[in-house]
Amino acid sequence: MSATPTERKLWTEITLFDGHQTFDQLMAVSVEGDRIALVCPMPDLSDETIQAADQTFVGGVMTPGLIDCHTHLVFSGSRADEFEQRLEGASYEEIARQGGGILSTVHATRASSEDALFNDSLPRIHALMADGVTTVEIKSGYGLNLDDELKMLRVARRLGSELPIQVVTTLLAAHALPPEFKDNADGYIDFICHEILPKAVTEQLADAVDVFCEGIGFSVAQSEKLFRAAQAYGLPIKSHAEQLSNLGGAKLTAKYQGLSADHIEWLDEEAIKAMAKAGTVATLLPGAFYTLRDTQVPPIELLRQYQVPMAIATDGNPGSSPIFQLTLMLNMACTLFRLTPKEALQGVTLNAAKALGLGDQFGSIAQGRQADFCIWKINTPSELAYAVQPGRLKQRVFKGEVTHELG
Ligand code: NIG
Ligand code: FE
Repeated sequence: MSATPTERKLWTEITLFDGHQTFDQLMAVSVEGDRIALVCPMPDLSDETIQAADQTFVGGVMTPGLIDCHTHLVFSGSRADEFEQRLEGASYEEIARQGGGILSTVHATRASSEDALFNDSLPRIHALMADGVTTVEIKSGYGLNLDDELKMLRVARRLGSELPIQVVTTLLAAHALPPEFKDNADGYIDFICHEILPKAVTEQLADAVDVFCEGIGFSVAQSEKLFRAAQAYGLPIKSHAEQLSNLGGAKLTAKYQGLSADHIEWLDEEAIKAMAKAGTVATLLPGAFYTLRDTQVPPIELLRQYQVPMAIATDGNPGSSPIFQLTLMLNMACTLFRLTPKEALQGVTLNAAKALGLGDQFGSIAQGRQADFCIWKINTPSELAYAVQPGRLKQRVFKGEVTHELG
């Protein structure tokens, strides 16, 4: 039996943003099977490589496949009613304290069968894929009990196995206090540490552990307990921190070498220093900032000063960021947070990979890497951040296969 020869594909005359920078000359990228075989300037492209290609594509802007490193896209139900309440003046915190918010999605998600939850999540992950996303992180956090947290994580894993996209999962059982543990947050944290986390580990359902460290979430002490338990199982940690107040969650995250501290509108200099030292990524979520009409802009200049890598994500969820378009976040990060287009692009490629602990494997285009990339019908990479314009994704390539073709 003869093995099928490895397919060779070649992209020529491309403007390349490789995750770090945009090259000032036209480039060529060749792919063998699921790997990038060669990245070189056009004049260095050999006749041999050209002739060896089974398929050749010409022109466009190439970026790494986009990475959405913070989403809650597995859920059921809608919170359009709360959207209206907020328009009438209610705050996100008020709605949460009255038992709505996250808990309202918990009710709908618990009531869904695993298949229904999978089907409810499909249009959202498809929307991200059609926007160039090749790796997505998906959190649990709308189950808040053993069965439903595991159900959410299994659905996330199934999305990754059935669709041409890499899914990274995060256990966020510490998202809100479930009604069963009313007035007993410590008891719930113990339950997560002793019941949910061990089961998620045994069934290999979680790649990381997250916590909502906030007045309406969990305290620093409770978060620390969870982080210790996660580390005992060898799982990396991350946090929702400093979104509505400065509790110290980001500094704690750095103390445990966390992958990322996310939101961080109220982050202070001391925590930034700690993050720089620990290599913790600052994940900016402009969609939540926009939706909640926040006015506290994250400390971008200090993050630059201490060279903390900045990632950008949708935070796609039914409450604070019902937005499933990562390229829109590029624009919002520039317009609302004053990032440069280059920083924004790094934020959804290389730095987003770092926020998932995958910086040495994903988020950049280089020889030997998995061939996950996008070809865009634009003139320069910065146009991706400049204009809010769907329909520019010419090709989406995942593991060397063209999974999306414009027209
Ligand atoms: O990242 N901050 C907490 N968690 C989500 C919101 C989830 C929800 O409102 O359903 C966030 O903003
Ligand atoms: Fe979130």
